[in-house]
Amino acid sequence: MNNSKKLFIPSLIGMWLFALPASAEEIAGEWHALFDTPAGVQTYHFNFQPKDGTLTARAVVESADQKRKVEFEEANLVGNTLSFVERRQIGDRELRIEYTGKLGDKELTLVRKIGEFGSQESAATRDIPKPEPVSAAPVVEVKINRVIKDAFKDSFRIGTAGDLPARYSDQELAIAAEHFNAVTPENCMKPERVHPEENTWQFEQPDALVEWASGSKMSVHGHTLVWHAQTRDWFFRDGDREAVTLRMKEHIATLVGRYKGKIQSWDVVNEAINDGGDAQTAKTENLRDSKWMQTIGPQFLALAFQFAHEADPDAVLYYNDYNIESGAKHESSMVLLKRLLADGAPVHGVGIQGHWRSGSVPFEEIEKAITDYASLGLKVSITELDVTIRGASGGQFGGGFGGRRSRRSTPASIEDLNVQAADYAKLFEIFQKHENVIERVTFWGLNDRRTWRWGQHPLLFDANNNPKPAYAAIVNDADDAREEPDSAKQIKIEDGGQGPYSAIATESPALAGMTIYRPEDLEKLGSETKLPILLWGNGACANTTEEHKNFLSEIASHGYIILGIGLLNQIESRDETSRQRTQSSQLITALDWIIAENARPESRYFGRVDSSKVAAMGMSCGGLQALEISSDSRITTSVICNSGVLPGPSPMAAMPALKKDDLKKLHGPVLYIMGGPSDIAYKNAMDDYARINHVPIAMTNLDVGHGGTYRQPQGGEFTKVALAWLNWQLKGSKDAAKMFIGDDSELKRDDKWTIETKQFDR
Ligand code: XIL
Repeated sequence: MNNSKKLFIPSLIGMWLFALPASAEEIAGEWHALFDTPAGVQTYHFNFQPKDGTLTARAVVESADQKRKVEFEEANLVGNTLSFVERRQIGDRELRIEYTGKLGDKELTLVRKIGEFGSQESAATRDIPKPEPVSAAPVVEVKINRVIKDAFKDSFRIGTAGDLPARYSDQELAIAAEHFNAVTPENCMKPERVHPEENTWQFEQPDALVEWASGSKMSVHGHTLVWHAQTRDWFFRDGDREAVTLRMKEHIATLVGRYKGKIQSWDVVNEAINDGGDAQTAKTENLRDSKWMQTIGPQFLALAFQFAHEADPDAVLYYNDYNIESGAKHESSMVLLKRLLADGAPVHGVGIQGHWRSGSVPFEEIEKAITDYASLGLKVSITELDVTIRGASGGQFGGGFGGRRSRRSTPASIEDLNVQAADYAKLFEIFQKHENVIERVTFWGLNDRRTWRWGQHPLLFDANNNPKPAYAAIVNDADDAREEPDSAKQIKIEDGGQGPYSAIATESPALAGMTIYRPEDLEKLGSETKLPILLWGNGACANTTEEHKNFLSEIASHGYIILGIGLLNQIESRDETSRQRTQSSQLITALDWIIAENARPESRYFGRVDSSKVAAMGMSCGGLQALEISSDSRITTSVICNSGVLPGPSPMAAMPALKKDDLKKLHGPVLYIMGGPSDIAYKNAMDDYARINHVPIAMTNLDVGHGGTYRQPQGGEFTKVALAWLNWQLKGSKDAAKMFIGDDSELKRDDKWTIETKQFDR
C-alpha cells in the first residue's frame, strides 16, 4: 500500500466539494497503467516527483518480452492536468509519444498519443492492474465464401502492405499468403530505412521481404524511391543540384537494380503535389515545396522515372499520391502527368493511395479519376487502401464502450462495421468495372492491429485476424450473403416455448449483429398466418438478448418474429462483445431488412411476415431505444418495459439522448410494463404517462422492481401482459384487449398488478 493514498483521499473529497485544483502531492509517487498498443499490452509503472513547481516523470515499462526504463521529457503539472513526453527510438525512427493525464477521484486518466497514429487511453491507479484476458471473438461473425485474391484473380492483384515477415506471427503470415497475391513493403524500402547515410545500406529487411514473397508466390511492389518524407537530409547536403541529382540516381540505381526482375513495380515518386488547392492551382502542377524541388526543381520527377527505368526496364513505374482523385489536386495530377508523358518520362501508372473514411468515400470522383488516368494511357492501382471508421466507437479518441473505460482499442460498433462494409463493396464494384485499367488493389496493412490507423479499424481483418463484414461484402455474392446458417446456428430456449409454434433463436448473415426469434417451422404458418414484427432493445442497451431470452422466445412461439439487438452466440457465451455499445438504428436496419425479405421471392421469409404490424419494444436502456425509433411511421405500437425518459441529460453516453419532448413523436398506442415504485425507472415512466395525452396509453405495474420477470420460466408475468397487448394491437384480438380495457379488466382484477389507461375511447 502506498502511503500517499492516505493523504490523497481527504484532499480528493475536498476537491470534489470545492473543485480545488489537485495539489502536487496528490500526483506524487507511483501510478500504474496498462496500455494496449499495436505491439501488445504494455504495463507502465510511473513515478512522478513534483518539486518546487517542476515535475520529474519516469517509468519502468514491461511488455511480454522486455522491460525498459523511460525518463520522460517536458513534464508539466498545471492544476490537475499532467503532461509529459516519451521519445522512443525504434530502429532508426524516432517516435514522440505525448501523454496527458487528468486526476480524477481515484485514478489518473492518461491518454497516450503517438503522432498521427491514434491514441490509447488508460486509467492509472495506485495499485498494479492486471491485464484483462483479451477476447479474440469478432464483433460480428462473418462467413467468407471466397478468398479475395481468388475472387478477383481475373481482374487485378490483391495486395497487402507490411514489413513482412519479421515480427509477424505465423498466423499472420499464413493469412497474408492465403488471401493476398501482392505485397508492398510498408517502410523498409523507404529512403530513411534502406539508405540512412550515404553509402550505408540496410538490405536485411528488404531482402527478407523479397525472399518471403517469392516463397509465398506474391508479387512485390517497391515503395518508394523519391519522397519528401522519410528521407534523410544527407541527400540534400550543400543543396547543389548536380550533387543531389547524382545521389538520387545512385539511390535508385542501387535499389531498383538490386531487385531487378524481383520487384514488379515501383512507386517512383510519392506525394509530389500540394494538398488542397483551388481553381487557380488546379490549372498548374502545384508541386509541393520539398527539398527535391528546392534542389533539383520540377525536373526531379522526370529524372527519377528515367533513372528507375534505366535500372530495370521491365519494372512498371508509378506516380503515387493521396487525394489525387479529388478536386483541385486531381486537376493538378492531370497537368503533371501530361507534362511527364509529353517529356517522354517512363511513367506507366498512377497509384491512387486510397486512405479514405467510412461514410465519406468519394466514389464518383474515384471512378472519374480512374477513367481520366486511363485516358492518358496509364494503368491505375489502388496502392494503400484503407477505409477508417471514425464513428462513436472508432475515432482516434474513442473512449471505452458505454462509459466503461477500455484499456484497449475500442471495438468497432456493428453499425460502423456495416457502413464500412457497404463502402468497401461499392469500391470493389467500381474497381471491377474498370478491371481493364486496374492492375492491383493493395490494402495498407494486414489487419486492424497491423495498420498505421490503429484504433480506426480500417482493414478486412480485425486485430485478432477474424474476417470482418467488409470482407464478406466484397467477396460474397448478394445471394451468398443471405444464406442462412445451418442448424448449428440455431438454439432452442425452454424447449421452444409454450405457444402453438415451437420457437428458435437464430441469425442471418445478412442481418449482422442481431438475433432472430421466430417459429422454427415457417411452413406450419400456412398461407393465412403472417408474423407481426417485434423490434427489441435490451436492458443496459447490451449487445445480447441473453437476459430476455425466455420472454422473447415465449412470445415468438405465439406467432411473432422478433429482431433483437445482439449476436446469437452472446446468448450462450456472454463475453466482452455483449457489453459493446449498441444503437437504436440497428432496429431500423433490422426492420428494413425483414420487410425486404418478406418481399423477396427466394427468401424463407417471403410472404411470411405482416410488414404492416410492427412493435418497437425494449427494456430499460433498450426501452429508450424503442422510444427513439417509435417516430418511424412504420411502427404500429410501442412497448416500454422498465423504462422512461430521464428528466435531464442522460448520464451514460451509451443511452439514447431522449428528451421529454420526444414523447410527442409517439403516434401509436403505447404500453408501459413497469416493476412498481421500487423500479428505478418508475418515476420517469409515471412522468411520461402524465405527459402523453395524444395517443392511447396503458401503464401497468407489477411490484417486482427494475429487473422485471424476464428470467422466470417463459418470462413470467411480464410475458402474459406483453403478449396480450401484442395480440390485441398487432393481431386484432378483442379477447386480448380484456387484459387492459374496462373496469373489470383482467389486470384490475389481478391483485398483483396495477393498471391505468388513457385515451382509448377516442
Ligand atoms: C506510413 C506507414 O504506414 C507508417 O508505418 C510510417 O510510420 C509512415 O508511413 N502514404 C504513404 C505511405 O505513401 O508510405 C505511408 O505509410 C502512408 C501514407
